[in-house]
This record gives sequence, structure tokens and C-alpha cells, in this order.
Amino acid sequence: MKIGIIGAGAVGEIVAYNACMRGLATDIIINDIIKEKAESQAIDLNDARAFYPRDVKIRSGEYEDMGDRDLIVVCMGKISEKDRLDELKGNKEAVEEFTRKIVDAGFDGFFVVVTNPVDIITYEVYKVSGFAPNKVIGSGTALDSARLQVVIADTLNISPKSVNATVLGEHGESQFVPWSQVKIDSMNLVEYEKSHPEKFENFDKDEVEDRTRRRGWDIFKGKGSTQYGIGNTVNNIIAAIKNDERIILKASALLDGEYGLDDLYISTPIMIGKNGIEEKFELDLTDDEIERLKKTASVIKEYIAKLDLD
Ligand SMILES: NC(=O)c1ccc[n+]([C@@H]2O[C@H](COP(=O)([O-])OP(=O)(O)OC[C@H]3O[C@@H](n4cnc5c(N)ncnc54)[C@H](O)[C@@H]3O)[C@@H](O)[C@H]2O)c1
Repeated sequence: MKIGIIGAGAVGEIVAYNACMRGLATDIIINDIIKEKAESQAIDLNDARAFYPRDVKIRSGEYEDMGDRDLIVVCMGKISEKDRLDELKGNKEAVEEFTRKIVDAGFDGFFVVVTNPVDIITYEVYKVSGFAPNKVIGSGTALDSARLQVVIADTLNISPKSVNATVLGEHGESQFVPWSQVKIDSMNLVEYEKSHPEKFENFDKDEVEDRTRRRGWDIFKGKGSTQYGIGNTVNNIIAAIKNDERIILKASALLDGEYGLDDLYISTPIMIGKNGIEEKFELDLTDDEIERLKKTASVIKEYIAKLDLD
């Protein structure tokens, strides 16, 4: 797969490296507003070429070079220490500019958006590109859901692979956990608690949810970026498209009536295959969870309005 990466920072480099190590990329162009940085990342990634499972061509390039890409990952931007929504003012114009240039260059592949605030920037890329919504995917709460799996797994002393858990809504402060949907393998959490009461003595759902929400900031405080979770979740999306996996992931998709919501990008389980978003799923939520979903959707809508797009 020919992959383009916009933003050669902490996320861009790990997305590229992960795509190389998983054998998903045949050709990568990495771009940054700081040209020397993109060039250095490309050379550094090339240094590991002999170790990748299949050969990859890697170089730096401009927006205009992205016309022949199969998929472009948007991961430029500067993390705000305030909150993810605060990044919008810094990223809005730049995203509009490069999306236009990339489409004008003939790009007709998939956009996978990571730049924050990711639900709003994904909507912007969708609108500015004029692409069908199945071809524009936001990483959304894919990362938060992976984090939730790990936090629950650590608390219950079980593998994260046996935890089926979802974070819904905005990839941001208003996200929430629909606890009615959490399963340990095929047992719902209430059943599992009945058979393992001792494991739940210190299990506080609000605290688990808070810890998941805070996790990105806790990592950011120490190292100034977060990389490994996002690098893998983005590459799960890339692999799903490349291999037509039809896997169900949690990510940001344009809703069109699901949960009574429309014209916004927000996370829900979606099936991803060779056409990008193949199907969206509406979970059977409790009344309280529906209320929380509406609240998080209203935050996204408020910020979409600030984009001031037609
Ligand atoms: N959605 C998620 O789950 C998730 C997770 C981690 C980070 N992020 C977001 O990803 C983005 C990047 O984070 P990071 O840690 O890599 O930041 P970073 O500062 O390490 O790298 C960002 C890079 O983007 C470049 N850049 C800025 N404007 C550009 C433009 N117009 N064109 C090309 N390159 C440009 C910068 O020069 C920099 O090299 C941020 O918006 C961050 O909030 C999202």
C-alpha cells in the first residue's frame, strides 16, 4: 500500500514505523511543515529497511506529491496543554489548505485522521475533500477503547485481549464508557462479577473511566507525546482496508441517523474493509448512556459549527 503521512512528529514517525514493521506499506511519503524534520525521519526509517518484513520505499515529500497514495494519515499539529478542542484554532486553516492541495494533486484514496480535535478535524477533511464518508475515517476512540481494555485488564488481572470494551463519543473530555456493553470474553460484566466477587472489591467504574480518560494526559506529562497506542490503532485501520478484513473497530464515522444523530463524526463500532467504512453499528444503550451520547455529540456539534464550513 502507498501511504502518505502528514506530520512527521511523534505520531507520524510511529505510524510510519509500525506500517513498515507490519509489512503494510510498500511506499511511504512523509511530510512535515519543517522539511528537514520530514527528511530526517525518512532517512532514519530507511536505516531500518533491511529489518522490515517486506521492502518499503520511504522518502519525504510535499502535499503535491501525495496524488498517487492509496491512503493518507493526517497527524500534524501541536498538542495543546489545555485540551484537545483547544487545538482546533491552530489546525483548522492548515487542514483546509493541505486537504485541498492533496485532492487537487489527484488523491482518491482513504484519509485516516488522527490530528486533534480528531472528530472535528475528520469532519473538516470530509467536507473539504468532498469524498464519500466511507473514505474518511477518524481514529476517534479507537485509542481510548484500547486504553480501557488495558485498564480493566489490569484491575481484574486478565488479558486485555479477553476484555471487550468500548469508549463512545468524542475522543476528548466528554467521552464515556457504556458499561452495559462491557464483556469479559462472552460474559457480561454483571455475570462476571457474580462469579468473581473478590475481583470487584476495588473495582470502581467511575474511577476506571476517569483513569482511561486521563491516560493520554498522564503519558503526555512525562514524555510530551503519546505514540504506541495510536501507532497500533491507526495501523489496525490501515490493515483492515488493505486486507479487506471487515473487522469491527471503534472509530469516528459520519453518522446519518444512528442514535438519532446526523451530520457529525463521532465514534461508534464500525466495520472496516476494502471500501473503508463498510458498516456502522448502533449499540443497544441504556437511557442513561443515550443521554451521555447526546451530550458528547453536542460538544462535537458545537465545535463543528466553529469550523464555519458550508
Ligand atoms: N487521535 C488520537 O488518538 C491522538 C493521539 C495522539 C496524538 N494525537 C494528535 O496528533 C497530532 C500530532 O501529535 P504529535 O505528538 O505527533 O505532535 P508533534 O508535535 O510531535 O508532531 C506534529 C508535527 O506536525 C508538524 N506540522 C504542523 N503543522 C503542519 C502542517 N500544516 N503540515 C505538515 N506538518 C505540520 C509539526 O512540524 C510536527 O513535526 C496532534 O494533533 C495530537 O493532538 C491524536
